[in-house]
Amino acid sequence: MLQSVSGAPANPANSASPRFFESAGIRTGSRVLDIGCGNGDLSRFVARLAGPQGEVVAVDRSEAALALARAAGGEPDAAPITYHAVDLADDLHDLGRFDVIVGRRVLMYLPDASATLARLVGLAKPGAILAFQEHARANLPFGLAALPLHQRLYDWIWDTVAAEGGDVTLGLRLVEQMRSQGLSIAQARNEGVLIQPGEPSFLPTLMRIMLPRLIEHSVASAEEVQPDTLAQRIEDEHRAVGGTIVWDQAFLVAGQVTG
Ligand SMILES: C[S@@+](CC[C@H](N)C(=O)[O-])C[C@H]1O[C@@H](n2cnc3c(N)ncnc32)[C@H](O)[C@@H]1O
Repeated sequence: MLQSVSGAPANPANSASPRFFESAGIRTGSRVLDIGCGNGDLSRFVARLAGPQGEVVAVDRSEAALALARAAGGEPDAAPITYHAVDLADDLHDLGRFDVIVGRRVLMYLPDASATLARLVGLAKPGAILAFQEHARANLPFGLAALPLHQRLYDWIWDTVAAEGGDVTLGLRLVEQMRSQGLSIAQARNEGVLIQPGEPSFLPTLMRIMLPRLIEHSVASAEEVQPDTLAQRIEDEHRAVGGTIVWDQAFLVAGQVTG
């Protein structure tokens, strides 16, 4: 079972990340930008790939997320990471030029991902790679039988992203958007995000984190979510249905600056 640093079940959406970002062209000494770095999980991963001779600049608009990322510290055999408060919807500071620009579940939250992509291309060195893991709302989840509770959670989550102004179709638009910025597509894959039977689900943790946002946007109330009994009800539904649940899809797209 995947486990996060905190001991809670890890988000299985991240299991697609290592193979993809390892293949994104980060080399020893690379200068890497991680956009929407959150708690710095991906920043630390790419810092290991870039090694002590490299450099990682990680940006997020959330001071709370940046504080968590900074608190996690660096690693001796990895590139140093500096964290900066940046709103990707605004003009980007001059952060210098980068060999590789990465992001995971970030462009989908932006009101105009295409405009941000254009600004990111402006920070890329000639030949640089831009590699993103993004998601899209789909006809999910599915499993061996109907999953009404999982379905409700899925709908609440995506309704919240939409209410916040995110683009719930971004995963499906990414190749097109990257091409329109003049990038040549080097990889474009899709990987199912699975919840396996008999393993603790990450969904209770995700719903606890997201509950204030669901309430803020009137997507669901605490009475509807019933957080105190949610973990048990999720487990009961999965046990009753059995088998693997296909929960989500990760779109893994890398493009190269040509010329
Ligand atoms: C789902 S989290 C992903 C975090 C991290 N990339 C990861 O995969 O662990 C989305 C992150 O994007 C950040 N974000 C959303 N909109 C942003 C914006 N306009 N500018 C900068 N960061 C933003 C959020 O603060 C949050 O940390």
